[in-house]
Amino acid sequence: MEIIVLPSAEEVAVRAAGIVGEALASATTGDARTSANLGLATGSSPLGLYRELTRARRSGEVDLTRVHGFALDEYVGLPAGHPQSYREVLTKEVCGPLTLDPANLHVPDGSGSTLDELVTAAAAYDDSIRQLGGIDVQILGIGSNGHIGFNEPGSALTSRTRVKRLSDRTRLDNARFFGEPEEVPTHCVTQGLGTILEARALVLVATGPGKAAAVAAAVEGPLTASCPASVLQWHARATVVVDEDAATGLRNREYYAEAAAGLRD
Ligand code: GLP
Repeated sequence: MEIIVLPSAEEVAVRAAGIVGEALASATTGDARTSANLGLATGSSPLGLYRELTRARRSGEVDLTRVHGFALDEYVGLPAGHPQSYREVLTKEVCGPLTLDPANLHVPDGSGSTLDELVTAAAAYDDSIRQLGGIDVQILGIGSNGHIGFNEPGSALTSRTRVKRLSDRTRLDNARFFGEPEEVPTHCVTQGLGTILEARALVLVATGPGKAAAVAAAVEGPLTASCPASVLQWHARATVVVDEDAATGLRNREYYAEAAAGLRD
């Protein structure tokens, strides 16, 4: 795992976008595949990264025209077109600025009206990721309780895309996007931790003091279902890019800075 601590959120966005851009470019180099697969996170953390990728696209540094986007998760029960459904959010915040063809945006289906329908759709989404070649680079944020995607504490480290109940803390955290806290759905469909681990590269971004405890637990705590983001410790190509505020709980800051400067392997 590579830990990169930078002075500002802006620098986090630039560095993380650079890593994502390189991973997408190398995904199709010398390969029979003509399109790369980008794993998309929602929430405020990756917005700077998307802005920076948009800038890089406009200046011709990256070509995203044939990229397929795969969402990490979706709420259950929001009507089609609801402004807070992740399909809508990603269509507006990602497909538009990055010029990703909306036909190439893949999002778990949270519209099923029975549990059976939701379970079947979740498994189909998981299969579709593999069938389309797997995710080349997965962008991740982190919840204040250590969740990634919507894998709440207690999620199996090998879990697949499935229906999950949201924790009260997550619903409260996400209430800012809805009119009333009670309007936040109680359930979601999320890629599992096992699904996320199959992406060829992971890039987690976190900024601000509210993420410091979760980042410390994920990076330096035990690998445990109690902190789902700690599963990044199990991945051979995971990069965590954080600002100073989100890094305050890290004990080994000095080492990470040395390693990032190339003084050690
Ligand atoms: C939601 C998303 C996660 C995201 C988290 C953090 O719960 N499902 O993918 O990482 O929010 O959001 P934010 O970046 O807004 O703090």
